[in-house]
Amino acid sequence: MSHRPLLEVEHLHVRFGASHILQGVSLSLDEGDITVLLGRNGVGKTTTLQTILGMPVPSGGTIHFRGEPIAGLATHAIVRRGIGWVPQGHRIFPTLTVAENLALASRKARPGQWDIDRIFEIFPWMAERRRASGGYLSGGEQQMLAVARALIQNPDLICMDEPSEGLSPKIVEEVGRVVELLSAQGCSVLMVEQNLGFALRVGRNFLVMNKGRIVHRGDRAQMLADPQAYRQHLSVTNVSKPGEPA
Ligand SMILES: Nc1ncnc2c1ncn2[C@@H]1O[C@H](COP(=O)(O)OP(=O)(O)OP(=O)(O)O)[C@@H](O)[C@H]1O
Ligand SMILES: [Mg+2]
Repeated sequence: MSHRPLLEVEHLHVRFGASHILQGVSLSLDEGDITVLLGRNGVGKTTTLQTILGMPVPSGGTIHFRGEPIAGLATHAIVRRGIGWVPQGHRIFPTLTVAENLALASRKARPGQWDIDRIFEIFPWMAERRRASGGYLSGGEQQMLAVARALIQNPDLICMDEPSEGLSPKIVEEVGRVVELLSAQGCSVLMVEQNLGFALRVGRNFLVMNKGRIVHRGDRAQMLADPQAYRQHLSVTNVSKPGEPA
């Protein structure tokens, strides 16, 4: 039997007007994989995730999830098939409470192991602050709530856009622990990151993007062994060694 990845993106092209933003992006993920997409500002990382989630619609290429084509489907239909989305800037509803944010996300959720009780088990502070407005949470708490909102829909794959952005090192490590927990339970993670130190601690496979193309690929060992092969494609400020604070 031939191997069929959970997610397979092939030769993806996205154009915004005259701008050719994605120029043939290919990537694939298996169950439980943690894949990190690295690259400088404006190279097309967010666009790659958003295209997998149905917006924008690609001008070329294919996206298969569990062997079925999903490019061109509406975002809600893609989410229903099991792809979760944690957008950049941990977007939650600031005027709704923690419990309301979770309840809204759990409407029409796929059946599975994650429900409100399970969420409160792994994030006990959410149970304590269930009546607090989302807008009063710290940045780190809002990020955890955004992850919980995606989890409660019982995805098989979660796409996260810069989950460590703007968070303290301690909270970043907590985000890392949650990512590892997801993977241990069989949920795959496709994560955009600019924090290389964090990415190398959590990620297993890496894709480096530049100007709409994947220009370097490697697993963790390969990335650690040869940073010269890709560091010109990353911002100078975020090239910290693993183990060092980013
Ligand atoms: N809706 C849109 N219309 C036109 N251009 C867009 C649109 N969305 C993104 N772009 C452009 O596409 C390019 C890639 O953007 P994208 O947000 O994917 O980059 P990124 O790698 O996520 O960058 P960052 O690190 O800053 O988040 C940028 O030049 C951006 O200006
Ligand atoms: Mg982005």
